[in-house]
Amino acid sequence: MPSAIRVEHLRKVYPQSTRGVAALEDLNLEVPSGRVYGLIGRNGAGKTTFVRICSTQLAPTAGRVEVLGHDVDREEREIRSRIACIPQESRPLYFLTVEEVVYLYLKMRGLDRAESRRRTRDALDELSLTEHRNRLVSRLSGGLRRRTLCAMVLASDADLLFLDEPTTGLDPIARREVWEAIRRTSREHRTIMLTTHYLDEAEALSTRLALVERGRLVLEGTPADLRGRVRYPYRVTIQGSFPRAELEPYGRVTEIEGGWLLFTREAEAREVARRALERNVRLSLGPVSLEDIFLDVVGRSIDEDSATEGAET
Ligand SMILES: Nc1ncnc2c1ncn2[C@@H]1O[C@H](COP(=O)(O)OP(=O)(O)OP(=O)(O)O)[C@@H](O)[C@H]1O
Ligand SMILES: [Mg+2]
Repeated sequence: MPSAIRVEHLRKVYPQSTRGVAALEDLNLEVPSGRVYGLIGRNGAGKTTFVRICSTQLAPTAGRVEVLGHDVDREEREIRSRIACIPQESRPLYFLTVEEVVYLYLKMRGLDRAESRRRTRDALDELSLTEHRNRLVSRLSGGLRRRTLCAMVLASDADLLFLDEPTTGLDPIARREVWEAIRRTSREHRTIMLTTHYLDEAEALSTRLALVERGRLVLEGTPADLRGRVRYPYRVTIQGSFPRAELEPYGRVTEIEGGWLLFTREAEAREVARRALERNVRLSLGPVSLEDIFLDVVGRSIDEDSATEGAET
């Protein structure tokens, strides 16, 4: 399958950056087409910078970026007609109604009236916005405005969608409606680049993921690949009385309300489970979540940095 995005040695230094620090440094990445690709990382890691470069809103400082087979530097017109974006900070036009704003967006993208009407109706329905369709965007709550933006972009016929934190500020029901719309879009063999701080969302939707830390790619692959890259791919929670010293040799132990959380390997997890059951304590066991991986990998990188800084001073 061809790549939707191919990035080689991408570097970005904002001209305004006083310290000359790169927002992206030597980034190499391939996003397969027709899937949801998750981009995760801490605040300031470089996610939005990456999305803005790939969606031709920002020029790279160095490196090569190809989107849908076109170069972002030379062929931005070709790219723009085939992509749609929800930028991180944006809101739909204020003086229109929900229905008008979705419909006009589709018309401006070149769809005919009938198709725009049909897609608007379906998108409003899909995101439970039909009852709000005649309300002015200016009078909507923040979450409803964000949902309207999601409806616009997910109703489009773009081949590649950039969703930069699409569900921030949405209630749990609305968030799942957006997930369903994202899944439906990817079933139509379109590509979605999804940036999110909700790691359950990234895990639930993404076929592959990239974890960026301070402008560099630190982990990339399928959720299973990512689990294979951490020291301890299993988590065991123990509720009840169990001596910490007996857990320590198996992996990393942290105290939780009423018990322990142990990160360990598969064989060790089984052994601990056997011991815990003998002691009649409550136990749950399973593979680590994306959040566990994130905290482990990013946490270690922060620790290493402070250790280096400590050594330098
Ligand atoms: N217009 C700008 N001028 C100068 N520096 C910028 C600009 N925009 C972003 N940066 C810097 O680039 C780095 C990456 O920012 P970016 O917005 O890409 O991060 P992010 O991963 O999207 O973070 P968040 O999760 O908070 O949205 C940060 O250090 C930020 O301060
Ligand atoms: Mg951002």
